[in-house]
Amino acid sequence: GLVNTKEMFAKAIKGGYAIPAFNFNNMEQMQAIIKAAVETKSPVILQVSKGARQYANATLLRYMAQGAVEYAKELGCAHPEIVLHLDHGDTFETCKSCIDSGFSSVMIDGSHLPYEENVALTKKVVEYAHQFDVTVEGELGVLAGVEDEVSAEHHTYTNPEEVIDFATRTGCDSLAISIGTSHGAYKFKPEQCHVDPATGRLVPPPLEFAVLDAVMEKLPGFPIVLHGSSSVPQEEVDTINKFGGKLEAAIGIPEEELRKAAKSAVCKINIDSDSRLAMTAAVRKVFAEKPAEFDPRKYLGPARDNMEKLYKHKIVNVLGSDNKL
Ligand code: G3H
Ligand code: 13P
Ligand code: NA
Ligand code: ZN
Repeated sequence: GLVNTKEMFAKAIKGGYAIPAFNFNNMEQMQAIIKAAVETKSPVILQVSKGARQYANATLLRYMAQGAVEYAKELGCAHPEIVLHLDHGDTFETCKSCIDSGFSSVMIDGSHLPYEENVALTKKVVEYAHQFDVTVEGELGVLAGVEDEVSAEHHTYTNPEEVIDFATRTGCDSLAISIGTSHGAYKFKPEQCHVDPATGRLVPPPLEFAVLDAVMEKLPGFPIVLHGSSSVPQEEVDTINKFGGKLEAAIGIPEEELRKAAKSAVCKINIDSDSRLAMTAAVRKVFAEKPAEFDPRKYLGPARDNMEKLYKHKIVNVLGSDNKL
């Protein structure tokens, strides 16, 4: 069956790699994630947002994820390690409903609340979740941009002085932190970036690794999570724009920074936007090159293949979670 994140994170921290947490909203994404994980022998976190539950129906997504374990076995993986995780849980009730219906892990995101309210809410979720062996991710610090329907103009980096108190009082199993990543495909303004003379491409300012280091010093060996970790591959953006799209100045987190993070106590790296870009690029290409095509399998199939390629790349070349099963 599905597993929680406990052992997975402990092994990842020891081994200096990070577990991929990929969002899914439909069958093609789920299939691509599982195929990529099986073929690279990687553990994987399937995560479902509130928006995904609204879009695809919570029950269908849950059974799809439970079916994913059987699917992985069919694909030849004897002992798959798959987590079904609620991404950005907003209330105790949402978390409870996921726990009651078989999720093996949940996030309660109280990062936008006053500190004491975040502690109280996270603690309440942890007390409920742990009765069922479900692991809980909390968050301290606010990412710039839109998160959980709350939008912030600027990053509020995680305050390292709060993390011991938060982890101890809430009992959470992992902690998402804010060190300069953000959600979506527009993580930096072009004016914050400099041009790489070799490639002519925009290079964003570095993440605040000093904050990560300070958090790790306070909580040695504690599992840390990075949200907003899409790299926004330029070739996918170029394909989208070439075939009628209009994505301007989309900028993500350089892979080199994620590789560095994955070697540390960062043991879960969240990626959603890159999968959306891979899917959209492939669909636009088919529509542009074969305008007579109207069988969904003929455009969702290539979309699935392109996502699978992207997921494998993340696993093998960025997070280093391959060959860990
Ligand atoms: O945290 C954001 C994830 O990318 C999920 O996005 O809420 O649009 O499904 P969503
Ligand atoms: P991206 O938008 O960078 O893919 O981040 C996804 C995420 O953090 C999901 O929780
Ligand atoms: Na790590
Ligand atoms: Zn997130």
